[in-house]
Amino acid sequence: MSTEKQFDVVVIGGGPGGYVAAIRAAQLGFKTACIDDAVNAKGGPALGGTCTNVGCIPSKALLQSSEHFEHAGHAFKEHGINVSGLELDLAQMLKRKDGVVKANNDGIVYLFKKNKVTFFHGRGTFAGKEGEGFTIDVTGPTTDTISAKNVIVATGSNPRELPNAPFDEKIILSNTGALAIDAVPAKLGVIGAGVIGLEMGSVWRRVGAQVTVLEGLPTFLGAVDQQIAKEAHKAFTKQGLAIHLGVKIGNITKGADNVTVEYADATGAAQTATFDRLIVSIGRVPNTNGLGFDKVGLQLDERGFIAVDDECRTGVPGIWAVGDVVRGPMLAHKAEEEGVAVAERIAGQHGHVNFNTIPWVIYTSPEIAWVGRTEEQLKKDGVAYKAGTFPFMANGRARALGDTTGMVKVIADAATDEILGVHIVGPVASELISEAVVAMEFKASAEDIARICHAHPTLSEATKEAALAVDKRSLNF
Ligand code: FAD
Ligand code: NAI
Repeated sequence: MSTEKQFDVVVIGGGPGGYVAAIRAAQLGFKTACIDDAVNAKGGPALGGTCTNVGCIPSKALLQSSEHFEHAGHAFKEHGINVSGLELDLAQMLKRKDGVVKANNDGIVYLFKKNKVTFFHGRGTFAGKEGEGFTIDVTGPTTDTISAKNVIVATGSNPRELPNAPFDEKIILSNTGALAIDAVPAKLGVIGAGVIGLEMGSVWRRVGAQVTVLEGLPTFLGAVDQQIAKEAHKAFTKQGLAIHLGVKIGNITKGADNVTVEYADATGAAQTATFDRLIVSIGRVPNTNGLGFDKVGLQLDERGFIAVDDECRTGVPGIWAVGDVVRGPMLAHKAEEEGVAVAERIAGQHGHVNFNTIPWVIYTSPEIAWVGRTEEQLKKDGVAYKAGTFPFMANGRARALGDTTGMVKVIADAATDEILGVHIVGPVASELISEAVVAMEFKASAEDIARICHAHPTLSEATKEAALAVDKRSLNF
């Protein structure tokens, strides 16, 4: 093989895990290539993975647009702004979303050029071992064979299908179809009240769909601190999302332009509902098919993810795996952190990912964000804790914004006062959570946050007040 086809590091997959790993590897002086098979509408590369193409970025674009529409229709009046003739231009909303995606795709192409990462547009498959390294075939828009001493697998995940309702992306939709419905469905069904169900359900409700969410578990957002989840449930129900918990999905029958779902409700009673469109958002599965793992001896774990240790090493020296294709939360920022850490480990450095301080955000309105452990987890773990809450209703900035739903909750160790978890439901919780992440990374106590000067009037004062409330000394509530 010619030396120009030999690399120090090859990354398979150009999502947040893969493209960031490639950039970091190149920054560290490695001759680096990245292979990605995603294709845009014109047949060109669409770097950025699920996150950029059919995940984080387009969903946030539509959440923003639909929230503007809802505000113009409902919230502006309270501010003394009367809007007449309000109209939805869905085609423009979708076009804008596509533009936001493209800007991100193009941004990564630029970053690869800037950092001298060689990009191969196609599907990468392990072909075998060669000396100290591995050979990888690339097929698709680009056909080639390349090799590397170190390979990072970052092939991501795919939406899980219901066995009796395969995705057609017209009536039964995964996240891909849910981001591109070309006319607002009068009735939208959503199976799964998880992150995608709530975010996409919110988008389509705001622009006029009647949305019914069918969730299998009896608890709403079981992984979220239940005080926060209850507050969010109340807000979503008030907005008009019909959320049915504890259902058991039965037959699903597709018609020409609708779909009928039979299910048993929480009492066991048989129910039938017909929807114009159905989003199925019941989790995602790692993308490990057809990668030639048998050629190099890569193993999967018992749940079908690539088996890795705490540092993303697979069982085959020289092959690493990061992101959605390995254990841990399926989040873009988790994938990125792992990608950086692996590139640094290949360079002999001590890359590190702190799994205890990975923030979660659900971008509904109100937003939900948290880091660390919930009250329920701490009780289960037998940890003595103190909790303080502060409602946005008592926060001056939230009142000025006209957005007072929700609260901040700080949980600290009963003995040491170290912060063990921060849970927020409310306006821009996604941004507010950063302070909590920093605090936890530095092992701050609740008193540390309570004693830090926060600008007034800001929403972040609610975090300071919740920290004061841990010691029962809130000033404004
Ligand atoms: P991916 O982003 O899935 O990228 C994998 C890439 O590898 C893809 O481009 C794929 O085409 C390519 N590939 C696969 N196999 C091969 C092969 N053999 N050869 C070449 N290329 C290959 N996370 C957040 O943190 N915040 C959010 O707001 C958020 N919103 C989301 C919204 C939705 C609707 C969805 C579905 C997900 C969302 N996520 C969010 C999750 C996030 O998208 C994923 O956690 C993240 O994309 C995982 O990154 P990754 O690099 O592991 O894989
Ligand atoms: P999810 O795991 O968040 O939620 C799936 C829901 O479906 C769960 O509540 C589950 O109990 C329910 N469910 C499963 N099987 C069911 C069945 N047969 N009938 C009824 N309900 C059923 O998964 P989701 O929403 O598909 O998203 C996948 C992942 O993508 C998320 O876990 C998250 O990692 C990532 N994501 C992150 C976002 C963010 O960070 N803001 C946004 C969207 C997705």
